[in-house]
Amino acid sequence: MLIRLLYASRARELGPFDVKDILERSRRNNQALGVTGALCLSNGIFLQCLEGDRTVVNQLYHRILGDRRHTDPAILDFEPIVCRQFTGWSMGLVNTVADNQALFLKYATGPQFDPYAMRPEALRAFFAELMNNTRWLG
Ligand SMILES: Cc1cc2nc3c(=O)[nH]c(=O)nc-3n(C[C@H](O)[C@H](O)[C@H](O)COP(=O)(O)O)c2cc1C
Repeated sequence: MLIRLLYASRARELGPFDVKDILERSRRNNQALGVTGALCLSNGIFLQCLEGDRTVVNQLYHRILGDRRHTDPAILDFEPIVCRQFTGWSMGLVNTVADNQALFLKYATGPQFDPYAMRPEALRAFFAELMNNTRWLG
């Protein structure tokens, strides 16, 4: 069964090459697992969307939880889906470069982007917009 998992976590002691390393591993592993999605990093907070088979995504999420490069993980949304949103991305990265500021702010509950404070509906709308309106990095 196809599902989408959205979770947030706080970046921890991130070195300059950590995000690149996370993306490279993600792309390699996720493609083999049939997992697609996007990874955002803004305001020191990761927000990740993982789409794929329910069991596979569950196992991957638990692997990711063990990573020392982040802390305070929280599942924000988990739902069965009919189809994927991120068909072309085994793991896209969205960063707070200037071009993306407006989108992050559009969904921010306060002066800073804080996915922990967002409703699941807002998170879904945010990711739906990401595909078309952001500058992708990596
Ligand atoms: C915020 C965050 C998101 C991550 N997302 C993924 C992911 O989608 N897929 C993945 O394989 N690893 C991801 N990782 C990395 C894993 O925790 C782990 O380092 C990696 O899967 C190990 O890959 P390897 O066995 O190929 O070395 C993520 C790590 C962090 C901190």
